[in-house]
Formats: sequence, C-alpha cells, structure tokens
Amino acid sequence: MAFTHRRPPLAVSLPLICVAFISFLAGPASAQGKTGQVTVFWGRHRDEGSLREACDSGLYSMVIMSFLDVYGSGTYNLDLSGHSLAGMGDAIKRCQFLGVPVSISIGGFGGAYSLPTNQSALALFDHLWNTYFGGSLNDTRRPFGDAWLDGVDMFLEHGTPTERYDTLALELAKHNIRAGDGKLLHLTATPHCRFPDTRIKEALDTGIFERIHVRFYDDPDCAAGFSTKEWAKWTAAYPFTKIYVGLPASPQAAKSGYTDPATLRRAVLPVAQKATNYGGVMVWDRYFDKRSNYSGSIKNWV
Ligand SMILES: *[C@@H]1O[C@H](CO)[C@@H](O)[C@H](O)[C@H]1NC(C)=O
Ligand SMILES: *[C@@H]1O[C@H](CO)[C@@H](O)[C@H](O)[C@H]1NC(C)=O
Ligand SMILES: *[C@@H]1O[C@H](CO)[C@@H](O)[C@H](O)[C@H]1NC(C)=O
Repeated sequence: MAFTHRRPPLAVSLPLICVAFISFLAGPASAQGKTGQVTVFWGRHRDEGSLREACDSGLYSMVIMSFLDVYGSGTYNLDLSGHSLAGMGDAIKRCQFLGVPVSISIGGFGGAYSLPTNQSALALFDHLWNTYFGGSLNDTRRPFGDAWLDGVDMFLEHGTPTERYDTLALELAKHNIRAGDGKLLHLTATPHCRFPDTRIKEALDTGIFERIHVRFYDDPDCAAGFSTKEWAKWTAAYPFTKIYVGLPASPQAAKSGYTDPATLRRAVLPVAQKATNYGGVMVWDRYFDKRSNYSGSIKNWV
C-alpha cells in the first residue's frame, strides 16, 4: 500500500532549522533514494482510457482525478472531460483493491473557483466530505455511490494569497481518520515550480500536507524542466512533507519543461533523491503517458 505516516504539524521556522541540522549531521547517507512512487493525473481527456485501465496498468501508486473546478459560491462541478460516471464507483474500489489510492483534485484551468472566506472553505469541505468521502447527508448526490475516495489535491491556477485553502486543509486534516470505519485522507498539493507559490503558501505552511507535487514545467523558472535551486527550497521548507518531482509525460503534455527519460535518470533523479523527503514523481497526465509510455520507461529509476 502507498499509505505513508504523517507527522504532526510544527511551527514553520522549526523544521527549517531541524532539516538543516539533520542534514549537517547525517550528510549524504540520509538520502531517500528510490521510492517507486508514481502519481498520475487522470480525467483531462475523454480518450485517455478508463480509470480502471489506468490502475490496472500497474504503473501508478496514486491516481488523482481532475478537476472539481467550480466551488466557492455555492455551486460545485466535477469536470472529468466527458468520462462516463457509470461504474466509476466500482472502478475506484478496484483501484483501491490494487493498492492504488484515488484522490480528487480541486482547482484546475477554469476560472470558476475561489475560496474568499472561511465560510466558503467550510462549505467546500462539507461538499467534498458528503459527496466523495465518509459523509452521508441524505440530500447529497454521490456520483460514485458508496465509494470513498482517498485524498484531496489542491491545484490552483488562479487565486490570491488571502483565499482560505488553509482553512480547508485544516478541516480535511480533522477527518484524517485511521481507525474504525474511517481511513487515511491523503492531503496533497500540486503547485508551480517557483518557490513559494503564493496561492497555496498559507495552506502549505500549516505543515499538514502529506505530499507536494512540484510542477517542473510550464513555468518561466522551470522552462528547462527540473531546477535544483527550486527543488532545494521546496524540500527544505516542508521537511515533513514528501516532495514529488512533477513531470510532463511527453513534449506535447506541456508548453515547456519536458525532460526525456534518459536525462531524468542521469541528471534529475540522482539530485532529487538526495533529499530525505523525496517522495517520487508525478506525471502529467494519463492521456500523454499512455501514448508515450513515459512512466513505463522511468519506473525503475524513481
Ligand atoms: C437519512 O434518511 C434516513 C432514512 O430516511 C433517516 O433515518 C436518517 O435519519 C437520515 N439522516 C440524516 C442525516 O438526515
Ligand atoms: C479563518 O480560519 C483560520 C484557520 O482556521 C483562522 O485562523 C482565522 O482566524 C479564521 N478567520 C476568520 C475571519 O474567522
Ligand atoms: C514501456 O517501457 C518499458 C521500459 O522500456 C517496457 O518494458 C514496456 O514494455 C513498455 N510498455 C509498453 C506498453 O510499451
């Protein structure tokens, strides 16, 4: 199973000092090395194959459905690019049976979302919890029936630093239940490569995120792909969060930043894996990955 244990949140400055001290003491021997973890985004193309097929491929350790792209003003919409919802609940359970958690990502490339107030953040929590997780309000439509998703990802393309993703994150963390009928809720974010990403900084600074997938593409600061400088900042800022290297699955999958498998293996992964909190890679997205076999080519090296 891909579940990892989470450590309790700490004040922001303390982990920075700790990680510097620990790496000073332990040196390169503390490197994380390979984890074999590959997270993929699914749901942006109708003809990318089904969720079930993605999980059955054996390539991925987590699948993130994208996107819930309308929220913040009382209405909500999940956009899966026209994938049929029929049987999706069973597909999710199948993935989970195979040990592949399935998360839902909020945000994306549309313009119809915002979280201006704590109230809107708590309302979004209620919507998520009752529609996709353990909630059971009678008047809530559940597109996946009783399937219970494994996590929430935050993928913000617009917004301001004052929006309340921190409030949402804290509320989700309260429902990260590991016993009884509940279960672990993977809280993740997928920011731009340049540190910090101000839209999500406030939320990440709570220290409670399990994973951060840094998008080393489509960003002026990462036009050439992986940036050692930005990687160092992300891994140092959130020592108790697993940091993933976000990669396009083919040159067509992003406007800039594609890194071919050979370069990834030779020049990127050896650097990334020196971090004690290296988590693995995130591949954008299933549609391009299916065509390029990028994950298949890199799997042994991540
Ligand atoms: C949901 O409906 C059932 C059956 O009608 C009822 O027993 C239960 O109390 C309702 N739950 C809530 C939270 O309203
Ligand atoms: C909003 O929630 C945050 C975090 O839960 C809290 O620190 C803040 O005081 C709240 N703001 C208001 C206006 O209630
Ligand atoms: C993907 O690449 C790997 C490594 O080269 C290879 O073993 C595998 O058969 C390929 N899969 C497909 C579907 O082409």
